[in-house]
Amino acid sequence: MCGIVGYLGDQQAAGILVEGLSQLEYRGYDSAGIAVLSPSGVKVVRTVGRVRDLQAALPKRLGGKVGIGHTRWATHGPATEPNAHPQASQDGRIQVVHNGILDNAAALRESLTTAGVTLSSDTDTEVLAHLIARSPAKTLEDKVIEALSHVTGTYAIAVLSADHPDRVVVARNGSPLVLGIGEREMFIGSDVAALVRHTSQVVHLDDGEFATVTRDGFKTFTADSIETGKTPEQIEMTAEELQLAGHSHYMYKEILEQPSSVERMLRGRLDERFATARLDGLQLDPRELRGIRRVKVLGCGSAFYSGQLGAALIEQLARVPADAEAASEFRYRNPIIEPDTLYVAVSQSGETADTLFAVREIQRKGGRVVGLVNVVGSSIARQCDGGIYLHAGPEISVASTKALTHMSLGFALLALALGRVRDLSFTDGLRIINGLKRIPDQISEIIDSEPHITTVAKGLAGAESLFFVGRVHGFPVAREGAQKFKEISYRHAEAYQTSELKHGPLALISETLPTVAVIPDDELLQRNIGAAHEITARRGPLVVITHAGVDLGNLDAERIDVPKNEPELDPILLTIPTQLLAYHAALELGHDIDRPRNLAKSVTVE
Ligand code: AGP
Repeated sequence: MCGIVGYLGDQQAAGILVEGLSQLEYRGYDSAGIAVLSPSGVKVVRTVGRVRDLQAALPKRLGGKVGIGHTRWATHGPATEPNAHPQASQDGRIQVVHNGILDNAAALRESLTTAGVTLSSDTDTEVLAHLIARSPAKTLEDKVIEALSHVTGTYAIAVLSADHPDRVVVARNGSPLVLGIGEREMFIGSDVAALVRHTSQVVHLDDGEFATVTRDGFKTFTADSIETGKTPEQIEMTAEELQLAGHSHYMYKEILEQPSSVERMLRGRLDERFATARLDGLQLDPRELRGIRRVKVLGCGSAFYSGQLGAALIEQLARVPADAEAASEFRYRNPIIEPDTLYVAVSQSGETADTLFAVREIQRKGGRVVGLVNVVGSSIARQCDGGIYLHAGPEISVASTKALTHMSLGFALLALALGRVRDLSFTDGLRIINGLKRIPDQISEIIDSEPHITTVAKGLAGAESLFFVGRVHGFPVAREGAQKFKEISYRHAEAYQTSELKHGPLALISETLPTVAVIPDDELLQRNIGAAHEITARRGPLVVITHAGVDLGNLDAERIDVPKNEPELDPILLTIPTQLLAYHAALELGHDIDRPRNLAKSVTVE
């Protein structure tokens, strides 16, 4: 969703701000803008559309060594130039960029209007600019503190003032904000991707924290003006990892990266001596692991489907009751939090607001939450009581692929560790370890069959609507397959349990509605084949994702073969072809694959 950048130093700010915004494009946005403190005052440029449109709109000479910038994903009011950020006070001397949502913006707008202020946008952020400008406090820092005391909601903000040209004041509550430390220059970003070209030394702000940033450094403090000492951290991400590296889309690059990223993730985590997983980050000793009576997984969208796959793995390997729930619904049903349940929050970005709020709800009621998170230092990773980093590397494409594979593997490791302090035998533990070690090569094998998958995908691209079906452990695969397909092809793709087809959806089957059926080589094989015949008997076009060597008899279907692993790990591999199906269907349809309409990479608002 929205992105924030800021710069203070000796270089011209405009170029650095625009370059930083382009690194944040993947988050999703519909307008962009910058404000620079030039020698002749504050200069603001805002445009609807892409960062390249903003760049094209910049005046030839836009001098100034301090500035802030923003990419906006419309919430309050449509994507228009007046609604783009920065938002300004009436005299334009205060400029604000903001991520998050102010819940009481409507009431504040009303009192500002009553006080004679003319608002010029539909945004909640503009309210903040006026409140800061009208604050009776003396310093910019105190004005920001005072203004924020009137608002409720979530925010990461950066504030520029023509009256304090040496500084930018920032604050965070519920939306991430990072400071990057350079040589006599400072950077501000809502995501380290905006800073990584310039520095590897960063400071993550905590909720409720403020900072004064000057070109020489920063000072963090609380709303009571008490200084909070922060030690800079070294980030591992490199600027190269954020490049396309010759590929036409990040999604494709990320699909292809999986064999090597998975190998990297597993390295050092497989303990063959004790046939278990080494997961020090969980911060749970064997006795605590043994005391867990139930596992509850929380995530959103594809992370939720990966959680369903993970819960099944935990039940199979550890025989601990486990289930997954959409984090977005969780806290609104007043959930019962049990002391001997392990709650697992799963998220690529680590910034998904719904998941973060679920974590806080659990912790508020005394529960223990561990995270399966990709982005190091992200809000969820920091909020959790321990966790397993996914080490998938940066994922830029809105449609998640490699991070999901890593989530599933994270669950496999957790299931192994939970199983081995219970009844999972040494032999079975080793069987799973050997299965995990085969996964990178088996993903490569699936990727090698891309030409065939491409042909199948082109056939599916023409359908207005399609089903993805699977049973038991194949159902999360079908859900994820449908999710990926709809996200980037904009086709209606719906997932069903194969067993449920005849209870209703079969009525829709016709020659214009194809079905993608997940049919692994397992104990349900014959039943799945039977259900597939019910589809073809009604002239429904059929694609079967199955294991090499499976005899489908005279079933009239296109087949995509996947190599067989251990039964518990098979769903991880069965998901890979659905990534390529979605990608090639969207390519065939000519869609903007990495930036699907209406979607954001990181959903930082509820
Ligand atoms: C995945 O393709 C989607 N873009 C989306 O469902 C995503 O998985 C979800 O928003 C959760 O994101 P997270 O993993 O960053 O928490």
